Amino acid sequence: MNTQAVVCNQVLKSFGAGEDEVKVLRGVDLTVPLGEMTFLVGPSGCGKTTLLSVIAGLLNPTGGDLHVLGTALHQLKSSKAVEFRRENLGFVFQQFNLLPALTAAENAAVPLLAANWPLKKAVEKAKTLLDELGLGSRVNARPNQLSGGQQQRVAFARALIHDPKLIVCDEPTSALDEHTGHYVMELLRKIAVRPERAVLVVTHDNRIYNFADRIAHMNDGLVTHVEQNGGMN
Ligand SMILES: Nc1ncnc2c1ncn2[C@@H]1O[C@H](COP(=O)(O)OP(=O)(O)OP(=O)(O)O)[C@@H](O)[C@H]1O
Ligand SMILES: [Mg+2]
Repeated sequence: MNTQAVVCNQVLKSFGAGEDEVKVLRGVDLTVPLGEMTFLVGPSGCGKTTLLSVIAGLLNPTGGDLHVLGTALHQLKSSKAVEFRRENLGFVFQQFNLLPALTAAENAAVPLLAANWPLKKAVEKAKTLLDELGLGSRVNARPNQLSGGQQQRVAFARALIHDPKLIVCDEPTSALDEHTGHYVMELLRKIAVRPERAVLVVTHDNRIYNFADRIAHMNDGLVTHVEQNGGMN
């Protein structure tokens, strides 16, 4: 059985070409095991968001070998890649990317609607999840009526609602106070860390490092070392 959610071997990513080429990922080796929460940390500009985007199939690598849940995602035809992502991946981005015209519950329900769930059932499930996230009273509010932290929790609900196998989060606690940040990380552990799942979190927030099973350190386009985090297991 495959025990790795993500395997990166010498992954390269450059932007631009010729003299303008910017080599952002310079040969990344990283494995993200199933059943664990892996954090990716490192200085601003070192390539964390780029690596997360490549892993999530939002950017194509320039070179190297990459498997996500046993699939070479970047080698799939784009319609198959979209389907694979829809079914297997959940995202929380640095920007929340909520749709302004939709309510909190409708925003959280989007992955289910994309999977052809009936609207009423999808919104009901979204409301239950938002309630668990402490937003039960705000399910009918639109994003511009919510605080940053509340919007972040809606983005969480949207990432988790379709039970994805791999959840990738970019700075998921940046808009949250310490208490809500801890609450959300605990919930993420509870919902997401199961033997057949994995969570990959990019963060600067050392207040939440103790939630990680392992911490991969990145610097200047490379994963330099990976640390096991003893405390949580
Ligand atoms: N589309 C792009 N075209 C050119 N350069 C890019 C592009 N996207 C990112 N970069 C560059 O790649 C480098 C890494 O960016 P990235 O967003 O991955 O960093 P990061 O580690 O997530 O930083 P932060 O912690 O500030 O979010 C930066 O120097 C950035 O300017
Ligand atoms: Mg970033």
